[in-house]
Amino acid sequence: MIPRGLAATFLCFVLCTSLVSGFYLPGVAPHDYAEGDPVKVFVNSLTPMSNSQLKSVISYDYYDPRFHFCRPENDLIEVPESLGSVLFGDRIMGTSFELFMKKNETCKSLCITKPIPKKDTAFINQCIAEDYSLNWFIDGLPAAHRKQDERTDEEYWNIGFQLGSGGKESPVLNNHYDIYIHYHERTTQANRVVGVVVVPSSKDTKLEGGKPVCKISNEAFKLNPEGGSEVVYTYSVYWIPSATAWATRWDNYLHILDPSIHWFSLVNSIVIVLFLTGMVAMILIRALHKDISRYNAVEAQEDVQEDYGWKLVHGDVFRAPTHPMLLSVFVGSGAQLMVMTALTLMFAVLGFLSPSNRGALGTVMVIFFMVCGCISGYVSARIYKMNGGEQWKLNVLLAATLFPSMLLVSLFVLNFVFIGLQSSGAVPFGTIMVVLGMFGLIYIPLSVAGSYLGFRKPRIEHPVRTNQIPRQIPDQPLYLRSVPSIMMGGILPFGAIFIELYFIMNSIWFHRIYYGIGFLFLVFIVLILTCSQVTILMCYFHLCNEDYHWSWRAFLTSGAAGLYVFLYAVLYYFTKLEFRTFTSSVLYFGYSSIISVMLGIMTGTIGYLACLVFLQRIFASIKVD
Ligand SMILES: *[C@@H]1O[C@H](CO)[C@@H](O)[C@H](O)[C@H]1NC(C)=O
Repeated sequence: MIPRGLAATFLCFVLCTSLVSGFYLPGVAPHDYAEGDPVKVFVNSLTPMSNSQLKSVISYDYYDPRFHFCRPENDLIEVPESLGSVLFGDRIMGTSFELFMKKNETCKSLCITKPIPKKDTAFINQCIAEDYSLNWFIDGLPAAHRKQDERTDEEYWNIGFQLGSGGKESPVLNNHYDIYIHYHERTTQANRVVGVVVVPSSKDTKLEGGKPVCKISNEAFKLNPEGGSEVVYTYSVYWIPSATAWATRWDNYLHILDPSIHWFSLVNSIVIVLFLTGMVAMILIRALHKDISRYNAVEAQEDVQEDYGWKLVHGDVFRAPTHPMLLSVFVGSGAQLMVMTALTLMFAVLGFLSPSNRGALGTVMVIFFMVCGCISGYVSARIYKMNGGEQWKLNVLLAATLFPSMLLVSLFVLNFVFIGLQSSGAVPFGTIMVVLGMFGLIYIPLSVAGSYLGFRKPRIEHPVRTNQIPRQIPDQPLYLRSVPSIMMGGILPFGAIFIELYFIMNSIWFHRIYYGIGFLFLVFIVLILTCSQVTILMCYFHLCNEDYHWSWRAFLTSGAAGLYVFLYAVLYYFTKLEFRTFTSSVLYFGYSSIISVMLGIMTGTIGYLACLVFLQRIFASIKVD
């Protein structure tokens, strides 16, 4: 049976890879330009940029009519993008800039806009006040602006450049771009673009005979708030020879502001793991060993000593939990998320998802999510069967739909907010259809197939029999009651990841490139270790106090890490973000809760499975009459 399942998985994988490559998988082969060859400029959506506090999360299409940017005369060239790219907000389009390799030019006219109405003027000025930045691409490289590292005084390139300056009080619009393109000359006929820096400025350019004349004046250009301003867009191009090789051209963009912090984060995580490992080892080796040999010695001597400790609950410990259906479906989804994350990180560590592969991360994540549907079905079926569930049809249905439809519905709701704001963050209809199609054609069949395999497998046997009549649970001390122990348990996994979390949040909300993939991989392993160890420890303490309701508590103990991540997002909101609009906050908290819930389900599953294995082991090693 398994080979057939594998074959189906493989087939599906090939199928969806081809489905996605229909979208175009971006190549990263170098492009050689001869002298005078045209070099194209592409634009992505405008995103809020921030140097200290982010003021919005809404991105806008470059050709949103309210901006009145110069459009190419012929139809807009929409650049095909990968699925992940579209889902994560890239909207790349062509422009009418004319750049020629190694040809310096100054003050070229891009276009002169029609008079901008009052309403749009207000919109543009608001975007300037919210620090919106332009995102261009030249030969696959993002246009950057120069920045100074405050700590080391080193100069580095920060992606994007400002739409305008002056803030809320006196917004000026940048209507002139000085484009500095660094090129690497291999032979005179083969030049490669290795860096793009744009210095935008605002110039009150005058027209002479219909042609712009750029003066080196300090006069800035301001839109008339009453409307009616015509904007003259101009640009200059400078080609700068560079020794940077093509292979290292991304290094300038990947400036690490403080490399030591990553090490600090790793050390922090490892200390937590070592501490927990020590605790667990102590319990396993000392206490547990002693318990087991004593229990077994008592058996052998036929002594009539009273049983004590965790052995007492042997007749109840594997009693089915309340709501076994929900638990098994969550554990299935959590296992799916865990495998998906592990596979994605492995791909990333192997270097498949470098920043030059735009959207590859998103694409790979979506594919793995769909393919791992079979894991969700399989795990959920086995756990449900183990807990003696009878309604297997409902289980198959819920395993295939409950979690993904929760996810899709919340994403759809947030998408409607984006559509309402006319933001480019809204996922286009076609892409939504593709995702739904993948869900229907790949996810659901794989999940059902997984469930089928899971239910066909023999039931997971417990090492001890469960008694007919449940035992009374004695009163628990305060720190072992459910809520306090769950809250305590969740802190450690969160503590192991929170520094790395800060970088992840920065890269999500500030559009920064995340450069510590190797670190992230290690932190993921640490997270798995802490989740399982914390849960095992807590579980042991509870069993010693004869409290055998471990299933949900194990799930929630490590799952509480998700709650802490959400609280962290709230803290981040108040310290790093300064949203001007209510909708930005709604979107922020919407995405934060989706991420926290997913993380909670994943860590909860790790805890539950670890605890299950632990209990199976320890109860298998004692003799019970
Ligand atoms: C273009 O201008 C830049 C800056 O002024 C200069 O360094 C560079 O050599 C010029 N390039 C060419 C090909 O003339």
